[in-house]
Amino acid sequence: MKTRDKSWVLITGASSGFGEEFARQYAGQGHSLVLVARRLDRLQALAEALRQQNRINVIVEQVDLSDIEAVTGLHQRLLEQGIAIDILINNAGHGLHGPFLDARLDTALAMVQLDIASLTAITHVFAQDMRKRGRGKILLVASLLAYLGVQNFAVYAAAKAYVLGLGDALHRELKPDGITVTTLCPGMSETGFATAAHQKLTPALQQLMMKPAPVVAAGIRALQAGRISIVPGWANKATTIFIWATPRWLHQAVISRIING
Ligand SMILES: NC(=O)c1ccc[n+]([C@@H]2O[C@H](COP(=O)([O-])OP(=O)(O)OC[C@H]3O[C@@H](n4cnc5c(N)ncnc54)[C@H](OP(=O)(O)O)[C@@H]3O)[C@@H](O)[C@H]2O)c1
Repeated sequence: MKTRDKSWVLITGASSGFGEEFARQYAGQGHSLVLVARRLDRLQALAEALRQQNRINVIVEQVDLSDIEAVTGLHQRLLEQGIAIDILINNAGHGLHGPFLDARLDTALAMVQLDIASLTAITHVFAQDMRKRGRGKILLVASLLAYLGVQNFAVYAAAKAYVLGLGDALHRELKPDGITVTTLCPGMSETGFATAAHQKLTPALQQLMMKPAPVVAAGIRALQAGRISIVPGWANKATTIFIWATPRWLHQAVISRIING
């Protein structure tokens, strides 16, 4: 198959939501893609559609990223195929909504494993290769909730604060190696997130929901421009200003009400 022969983009969590949209937008730019998630049927259907529409290379990797050995296995398989990842979209993750003490401990820790440990492992493994080549781009998907602790999203919000902190630090640290690190902090968006997190959407949140396409487009633009982080959408940007400008007790109370009703 004749392809447009552009650089490789690896997208985690490509079977739905933002990840699927990242795949569509990078495919539209002619990049070769590695799509990673657990639901193989969805990855394969997306890969076939993108190959036909865009004449690009697409590799599908069914991986449960919560297993760190599976992360290193993925890296090894790509190396053996001579595939060097130029752009890493570290997107796979899920939320957990509800009272801290009502969730099973192993459920909360499984989320920490995926949202923190696996994201760190993938970044570490692929950034090593990028450093050797002297170039690369990494996008970390955090959340607007990274900016504050949120009642009933306690562990998830704290996990995303880690992602934002990691991104801030690596943005400076990896720059001399030619690697750009950008953190994307979306607000509530129309993906599979709410279902996976067992979150019932309040009317206020439904009003604020963004579609995945503009969120992803903002992330790609920010990564391309080498920005440290990006909050997509005016309502989400206004929320970060509100958080910055008001005392902790106030913005916590208001945002908790918007999220929990
Ligand atoms: N949508 C929002 O409102 C929102 C807001 C802020 C931040 N975010 C963040 O955006 C990112 C993407 O979520 P989304 O909103 O697009 O939700 P989504 O539609 O549920 O997508 C989540 C993706 O992660 C993958 N995934 C989950 N567990 C995995 C595992 N163990 N191994 C490999 N892949 C796994 C899922 O694929 P499989 O199930 O096929 O494995 C799916 O492709 C997450 O990091 C989320 O925290 C979302």
